[in-house]
Amino acid sequence: MYSQKCIQCNAEYTPQEIVYTCPKCDGLLEIVYDWSDLSISRKDFEGIPLSVWKYKALLPVEREPVSTNEGGTPLYKCSPLAQKIGIDTMYVKHEGLNPTGSFKDRGMTVGVSKALELGMKTVACASTGNTSASLAIYGAKAGIPVVVLLPAGKVAMGKVAQAMMHGAKVLSIRGNFDDALKLVRELCDNEGFYLLNSVNPYRLEGQKTIAFEIADQLGWEVPDKLVLPVGNAGNITAIYKGFREFYELGLTERIPTMIGIQAEGSCPVVNAFKQDQKDIVPVTNPETIATAIRIGDPVNAVKALRAIYQSGGLAESVSDDEIVAAQKDLARLEGIGVEPASASSVAGLKKLVDMGAIQSDETVVCITTGHLLKDPEEVMDMCESPIEVDATAESVRKAVFG
Ligand SMILES: Cc1ncc(COP(=O)(O)O)c(C=O)c1O
Ligand SMILES: [Zn+2]
Repeated sequence: MYSQKCIQCNAEYTPQEIVYTCPKCDGLLEIVYDWSDLSISRKDFEGIPLSVWKYKALLPVEREPVSTNEGGTPLYKCSPLAQKIGIDTMYVKHEGLNPTGSFKDRGMTVGVSKALELGMKTVACASTGNTSASLAIYGAKAGIPVVVLLPAGKVAMGKVAQAMMHGAKVLSIRGNFDDALKLVRELCDNEGFYLLNSVNPYRLEGQKTIAFEIADQLGWEVPDKLVLPVGNAGNITAIYKGFREFYELGLTERIPTMIGIQAEGSCPVVNAFKQDQKDIVPVTNPETIATAIRIGDPVNAVKALRAIYQSGGLAESVSDDEIVAAQKDLARLEGIGVEPASASSVAGLKKLVDMGAIQSDETVVCITTGHLLKDPEEVMDMCESPIEVDATAESVRKAVFG
């Protein structure tokens, strides 16, 4: 039993109602469950491989899911990187190893399954890239048309390639992500398309399984600090909800502190946090190398700030240079290849340890949200080019040894 509940005025809507924000007050919606009849314990999860659908009992989908084996991502213990940063215990949950190379697959397997359950005929989203790639594969798998709106010239190549190859109708909007989101919301309202941006509360239910998996992987312990990139602010909200639900179900004993990281040129949530505000003032011209989080008016900001305040967390910004340095550290010290936005979590951790806001004996999990191959152009700009040599043993030796 569950419903869609407004976080602002507490109005409730049935699971079948197609509403993305509260029709009464425009507040954000959240899926709330009546689990009074649910009896669940750690034992119920024993021996089952990790995946989003391992936690089906805690997800709002009744039908057979539209699934491509999402979730079950590794939680790497990162000793060299932890040492460099100056903490004892650090893990990276590498969401870049999902089917399309980002955490969005967790949300879309639930969101597209729900779309079919609700009888929706077309699904749509605005995207900085990863959301569109993910929606494209689940639409393909479900056999329904997909429409995606992208900010022209600001989406990493790998992501556009995925959306195109999987058959989505790809529109390049002459504007930024925030413009694209406004337009797709209008399109969905007018044409009856199903909106699968993270304002859709069902999508976030899939993403909360990141928290479930972390607890599961750590033997039902939770870290002290959870650090992740923040763009449209859905994921931080979802992961906090996941930790809260496990705690409320008695499966874990604590909720970690949630720490959101944004890029300096695109940090409305950080600004709001630093001014102790419950909502953001949009940033009008967001800019950062981390195009996935180049968002000036995050739709889930109120929920994200609530997650941060309730968990005793914080929000911090990092520069593009810090992001690239962290991306290289992940790649070269740990063998973890991520796109720039993902590296902001590790850049943020380093900054917060340097500032004394995270202590060396605290256990930290950083989320890396998307795979390195998403944005090969950024890599070509940031790394030394391959050395071209003649096809002789001598020139190869010379190039290797200088
Ligand atoms: C790689 C990557 N990291 C982080 C984010 C930000 O996630 P959210 O919008 O849920 O804050 C996105 C969103 O597009 C993303 O693609
Ligand atoms: Zn309301």
